[in-house]
Amino acid sequence: MFQRLAGLSLAVLMAGPGLAQQAADAVAPEAGTQGVTALSNPEIAAAYAARAAGQPVQAETWMVAAANPLAVSAGAEVLRNGGSAADAMIAVQVVLGLVEPQSSGLGGGAFLVWYDAASGELTTLDARETAPLAATPTLFQDETGEPLGFFDAVVGGRSVGTPGTPALLQEAHRRWGKARWPDLFQAGIALSEEGFAVSPRLAGLVESDAERLARRPQTAAYFLPDGSPVPAGAILRNPAYAATLRALATEGAAAFYSGAIAADIVRAVRDGQGNPGVLSETDLALYQVRERPPVCVSYRGHDVCGMGPPSSGALTVGQILGMLESYDLAALGPGSADAWRLIGDASRLAFADRGRYMADSDFVPMPTKGLLEQAYLAQRASLLAGDDALPEVAPGSPKWDHAQLLADDVSIELPSTSHISIVDGQGNVLSMTTTIENGFGSRLMVHGFLLNNELTDFSFRTHSDGVPIANRLEPGKRPRSSMSPTIVLKDGAPVLALGSSGGSRIIGHVAQSIIAWLDWGMNIQEAIALPHAINRFGTYDVEEGTEAEALKAPLEALGYEVSVRQLNSGLHAIAIADGLHGAADPRREGIALGK
Ligand code: GLY
Repeated sequence: MFQRLAGLSLAVLMAGPGLAQQAADAVAPEAGTQGVTALSNPEIAAAYAARAAGQPVQAETWMVAAANPLAVSAGAEVLRNGGSAADAMIAVQVVLGLVEPQSSGLGGGAFLVWYDAASGELTTLDARETAPLAATPTLFQDETGEPLGFFDAVVGGRSVGTPGTPALLQEAHRRWGKARWPDLFQAGIALSEEGFAVSPRLAGLVESDAERLARRPQTAAYFLPDGSPVPAGAILRNPAYAATLRALATEGAAAFYSGAIAADIVRAVRDGQGNPGVLSETDLALYQVRERPPVCVSYRGHDVCGMGPPSSGALTVGQILGMLESYDLAALGPGSADAWRLIGDASRLAFADRGRYMADSDFVPMPTKGLLEQAYLAQRASLLAGDDALPEVAPGSPKWDHAQLLADDVSIELPSTSHISIVDGQGNVLSMTTTIENGFGSRLMVHGFLLNNELTDFSFRTHSDGVPIANRLEPGKRPRSSMSPTIVLKDGAPVLALGSSGGSRIIGHVAQSIIAWLDWGMNIQEAIALPHAINRFGTYDVEEGTEAEALKAPLEALGYEVSVRQLNSGLHAIAIADGLHGAADPRREGIALGK
């Protein structure tokens, strides 16, 4: 079915009027805005054109793919001047924090996967937010022990964890940087001071969240000037963010984790304007990025590698692919309901294990190896051998050294977040997913950036029927994530960098893109634009307004409950084979750009 949609028709179908408008903007920009300055760049116009045609952007030497053209442009400038992928990432992240402030920024956290061309080694860095040392496991419960409503928990200081992103920028630069650190902030500083054109997506999100944004004076003053949501195309300046970037450029991440910025973060969280949190200056001073062992699974002769705990990303993507390895998805093809039955039920089984076993392994013993052991995956895969949807799924019993009784998780995750993929001129590859959790995070704005609400990625309940939940909140612990920054290798060499936004649907977005690319032979732009069908907990979500809707009846006939809905991924990918092939998700505003 989906194969009929190759090329232009698929991209246009997925893009809808938003992309068509952006593509038009790229060739006929409105005069006088920063955003338009970048969109007038012929390279960027070419990137839009390639994406609209369902083709990857082609390059030979370096490439960057991310969620906003201004951020991509800043990263491309660094790479053009000989900077490393780590240098480019810093420039991209700094600009994303300005132009896409609802999704990621200095007030949040991230996971980074790095392939080092010189050594051939893979490194994963964990810059996840930590729970404050003064936080208690019942932080998100009311006085009767019942979980708070999601937004009652999110909005205010209560949900704010210690940010990790500034420390990650510094750590990545310390390990792999070539450019001068202060230079990497200049594009962000200039855009903050001169202003940038508010994108249609940002304007739409501000409008739909206006009531919550209006509750916090600093946040309201920025996003709702004169009391109304800032419209698309308006020029927004953020001098407070420029000052923060200048401090980081001059003093390094210490300017964030101590001194005036740290004190003001703590003040904002503890005041919390009706919903205070417990973050302290000690939490900020103690924050550290952690290097973790990469988690890899073998799939169709490739190694699919990513971020281990506290992310559930690589383990859950790995379990899905590991279970599907013994089924011939290529023969079934992307139009086959049976292929989607296999993918959907493999995903349900993996999510059952995720809910039971996955959390911050510094705090909770985890069967990390057992979850990806071949014999275990083969036993779980055998459950898929029938013809219909599994009537129910339950966690399995992987091998582990420190077995303990755990209850299933009940945490809530809504889609947000941003993904950056970069290949530099030396062949280093970076895949980084970055977030402040919910759109606009905690809605608290300090020094020109938003603070995260990452603590709501913990389970609000600590126990179920007296049995502890692995992802319960504990002081200093990192909340379980679904972020899945991934690098795929073939014979030890990188062939694909990718990742997505989308809350816990990230896992399905990444797994399905890999299947579309490896099993169904799509080019990487077609693979990430493929209409989504996602199953996590039983209900099959199929993407509204796309050919995936045609799966509704056959999936219902197999026994699934099907929900037709928007599925806003933010996939950004670079395939590496005879040059570089970049892809940007038509559901977002990003591009891929290379040379
Ligand atoms: N807050 C989204 C995630 O970490 O998965």
